[in-house]
Amino acid sequence: MADFPKLLTSRYELNESWLLSTVEKHGAYEVARKALTTMKPEEIAAEVKEANIRGRGGAGFPAGVKWGFIPKGNTKPVYLAVNGDEGEPGTFKDRTIMERDPHRLIEGCVITLFAIGGHIAYIYVRCELVKAIRRLEDAIEEARQKGFIGDRPFGKDHKIEIYVQPGAGAYICGEESSLLNSLEGNRGEPRLRPPFPAVEGAFRCPTIVNNVETISSISEIVRMGGKAWSDLSRLPRDGGVRIYGVSGHVKNPGIYEAPVGISMRELVYDLGGGMLYENRPLKAVIPGGSSTPVLRADDVVNAPGENDPLHAWQGKSHLDVPMGADTYRALGTMLGTCCATVMDNSVNMVEVARNLIHFYAHESCGQCTPCREGSAWMRDILDNLCRGKGRKEDVRLLVEIANNIMGNTICAFGDGMSMPMLGLVQKFYDEFLEAAKNGVPGSPLGDSAKELMLGSGA
Ligand SMILES: Cc1cc2nc3c(=O)[nH]c(=O)nc-3n(C[C@H](O)[C@H](O)[C@H](O)COP(=O)(O)O)c2cc1C
Repeated sequence: MADFPKLLTSRYELNESWLLSTVEKHGAYEVARKALTTMKPEEIAAEVKEANIRGRGGAGFPAGVKWGFIPKGNTKPVYLAVNGDEGEPGTFKDRTIMERDPHRLIEGCVITLFAIGGHIAYIYVRCELVKAIRRLEDAIEEARQKGFIGDRPFGKDHKIEIYVQPGAGAYICGEESSLLNSLEGNRGEPRLRPPFPAVEGAFRCPTIVNNVETISSISEIVRMGGKAWSDLSRLPRDGGVRIYGVSGHVKNPGIYEAPVGISMRELVYDLGGGMLYENRPLKAVIPGGSSTPVLRADDVVNAPGENDPLHAWQGKSHLDVPMGADTYRALGTMLGTCCATVMDNSVNMVEVARNLIHFYAHESCGQCTPCREGSAWMRDILDNLCRGKGRKEDVRLLVEIANNIMGNTICAFGDGMSMPMLGLVQKFYDEFLEAAKNGVPGSPLGDSAKELMLGSGA
């Protein structure tokens, strides 16, 4: 197995790695002390910008650029909201940071708050992650006892408080504006933008919303300098290392730290140990959480033009394209959270679509009609297709509904549900036509009404 140097996960294997007494011996808070006592906030922000770190929560927006959106001359309080909701199916990386090295996240919050001129960070964690919440709360208390947070962290006149806010377990509350509504005690529904959170976020004040892994990377960025961090990546404008996840039909499911820009082939066969069953080859991969369109194992890059961003990989397998925010967009998918779901040739893709759409229909907050109605409609169509009660026209209808949701909702939930549906139909059209003729043999239930009743304990 490839042995990449560990930065973000370097303390994971230490005995009781969540305790300050353990991680302090391994460099915890050294960078925060240096940053608060010897650096200017704008110097820290400049390093983060140079690091080219793309947000690790899914959209891949450059963190340094986002921090720069706080209005100049702002006189309101500035908040940091750390997104630890981690609700995207297939994604399980942030919880490992919060459970196994909570001090890395807290150190990142301290440095970030100082850099953005904020005093309060909220770490929003879904309530099911009980261990993560307890470890974070204990770690915050340890840091407070040591004077690393509080009125004068490291003796600096820059008050810092960090609070853990458990969410109630709604996928939509991972969407940044719903998260802010939920944080304020309101219903977790997305807000119209603009204004964007960096201008008007929590309590109508400028708020930087960043993912747990993004903030946990800040101490290493400041320690080594933005350029050195950026150069760890194999890709331009997409710096550093990240925590990859791999699950499904692989021998070694789990999380692995590696440079940005490794290929899906490396993730599945090298880090993930290869396919689980020797006689069942790889069929498809959902690259980064369920909202990212599927990759077919047998697809090759078709980018003959020299200006095409994928030209360098012309004729190569999609699995060999480096995993980056821009490269994956050019492939027609998204990198997302970089936690891949691997499927072998025993998997029926109509059943995959049915499984996913049940999740989305259940989690739609219902605020926007296309998302609320469209998700339930697609669920019923896919149930019918799997049960053998579908028609050929249903496949077309599915595409039509998904296309009508895209771009017509307040938040990206609608796109995040429609894109994978469109991707599955486009890449496995024959399987959908076959389901329209003969259903999907072995589909577990295929009856959404029954499923809902079972779900509610009836
Ligand atoms: C429906 C939906 C759910 C989301 N869930 C999460 C989540 O659980 N964690 C997360 O960090 N970002 C999630 N996001 C993305 C956030 O809206 C936001 O882009 C991210 O927290 C910003 O942090 P980053 O720039 O560091 O990635 C979600 C987005 C959508 C549309």
